[in-house]
Amino acid sequence: MRTTEIARRWSPSELYISHMAKGHTEDVIATIDVDAFMALRKNAREKTKTLNNVKYFNLKPYMHEHMRRALSLRLNNAGIKVLDIGTGFGYFPYICEFFGNTAVALDVPDHPLFDDVTNFLNVNKMRQRVETFQPLVGLDRSFDLVTAFQLAFNGHKGKRWGEEEWAFFLDDVFNNVLKQTGELVLEPNYDFKHRFWLSPSEFRAFRRYRTQISGRRIRVKRNSTAAS
Ligand SMILES: C[S@@+](CC[C@H](N)C(=O)[O-])C[C@H]1O[C@@H](n2cnc3c(N)ncnc32)[C@H](O)[C@@H]1O
Repeated sequence: MRTTEIARRWSPSELYISHMAKGHTEDVIATIDVDAFMALRKNAREKTKTLNNVKYFNLKPYMHEHMRRALSLRLNNAGIKVLDIGTGFGYFPYICEFFGNTAVALDVPDHPLFDDVTNFLNVNKMRQRVETFQPLVGLDRSFDLVTAFQLAFNGHKGKRWGEEEWAFFLDDVFNNVLKQTGELVLEPNYDFKHRFWLSPSEFRAFRRYRTQISGRRIRVKRNSTAAS
């Protein structure tokens, strides 16, 4: 991508954040024993059903991506408590803690590769699958921020969640996980069918809250009133 193209597609503040993220990414990686980390990759094939997950060992680009997210959410020295749902390798909570926040991660149980990596990074992870119409368990209303990046919750027969599923999830997060002033930030997988990050029926669930959509990022505040 040429510089002029980057300038057209990214706002000045995004460019600034990306620039800042480069330096901070180096700092975070310096806290990791990279040789020992890459040794985990040797057995990765036996530990994941989807070889696609091995791509996350490309430490620098993935750390940089999560660093950009963390900086754009002003998590450097925020001193807050974060829950990252669908954490994968746990890079985002690792960065949150690097900046002095408290982070809890959550991902499906029985994923040996993700477990190896999050254990290695000493990420505090809950092994729990988010299921349709099931509240999250083992959490309290102590979180300032709940995040979920690159995650499509799939319901019956792998179909994307619809309005009712999302409405249940949002109510649960806002009533049982987030503090009064807390915020939910999502970057869902792209919905190719509807050519947007949310399908129209997903969108209806979010409209019940004060939701800001900026590019692929969806920010939802708790202190808005859900429509009856
Ligand atoms: C594409 S990966 C994204 C990982 C990470 N958030 C990132 O951006 O690098 C999707 C993650 O969501 C997790 N996941 C998918 N469905 C889930 C569910 N129902 N409950 C909890 N985690 C789930 C997967 O195990 C995987 O770690």
